[in-house]
Amino acid sequence: MTPQHPRTVTKAVIPAAGLGTRFLPATKATPKEMLPVVDKPAIQYVVEESVRAGLDDVLVITGRNKAALEDHFDHHWELEQALEAKGDQFRLARVRESADIKVHFVRQGQPLGLGHAVHVAKEHVGDHPFAVLLGDDLIDGRDHLLEEMVAVREERGGSVIALMEVPPESVGLYGCAAVDGREGDVVRVTGLVEKPDPAEAPSNLAVIGRYVLDPSVFEVLEQTPPGRGGEIQLTDALQTLAGSSEPGGGVHGVVFSGRRYDTGDRLDYLKAVVRLGLDHQELGKDFGQWLDEFVQERLAPEKAFQR
Ligand code: G1P
Repeated sequence: MTPQHPRTVTKAVIPAAGLGTRFLPATKATPKEMLPVVDKPAIQYVVEESVRAGLDDVLVITGRNKAALEDHFDHHWELEQALEAKGDQFRLARVRESADIKVHFVRQGQPLGLGHAVHVAKEHVGDHPFAVLLGDDLIDGRDHLLEEMVAVREERGGSVIALMEVPPESVGLYGCAAVDGREGDVVRVTGLVEKPDPAEAPSNLAVIGRYVLDPSVFEVLEQTPPGRGGEIQLTDALQTLAGSSEPGGGVHGVVFSGRRYDTGDRLDYLKAVVRLGLDHQELGKDFGQWLDEFVQERLAPEKAFQR
């Protein structure tokens, strides 16, 4: 008899080996995941989201040039001692926040695509369902997408992906899903295509960067040939799983309508900084006041000049 896969999801994989070309030259020597969103690097939000959802075994898949990521999730003894000596407990606590999370690292070796990056996690993950969080997709901390996806996996098995409605002309930037049987915000995924021509897209439901995957995805990835852009696509492996009635097969989608920021895109990055800056505990009030004045100035420059 085949053993049942353990059902509880405790592991998260964060692929962070990309070159960040959309954000050059800022990302020439700094990994895009380390770009600050207000006062924390983007990837710290993603790691914290994972821990909040109860997934505190985090594996980051890195590439060359990513040493800053490892340093960020480690203790910085000299800095901690200096802050301790000054009695700056507030900053000391903030510096320690990221070091207190247990983050593992493995290198992808060759940049062969998202599917390949996920496969690199096989040994660490073993025979357990696990989550994948893309390092440049930031989900607002007030929205509980990952928790809901884990609950859907626990209830229905198989794999679960996050979907979001996008304008039809933008669907070619994403993986796109064909779905049926909607119950609340949960759908059954019947097909997937990576970055389709918008005229041929099966829907306007885009795959966003959160997945809860059955471990059978590893075997499927091993059989998945390079797809769009010559890369091994996670979307293609999920397309196989969506049509599979084998144990571990089947894909559901959670249609998300909350706040998501693509911090790898310059315009979305600016929006994320403004939104999260406004919500920031220490800076939000002052920043909000300044922003109101700034907007008024933009709307009626002559009045602002008289002030
Ligand atoms: C990747 C996935 C794509 C997904 C997107 C979400 O694409 O391949 O299916 O829709 O992330 O951000 P990338 O943005 O890395 O090209």
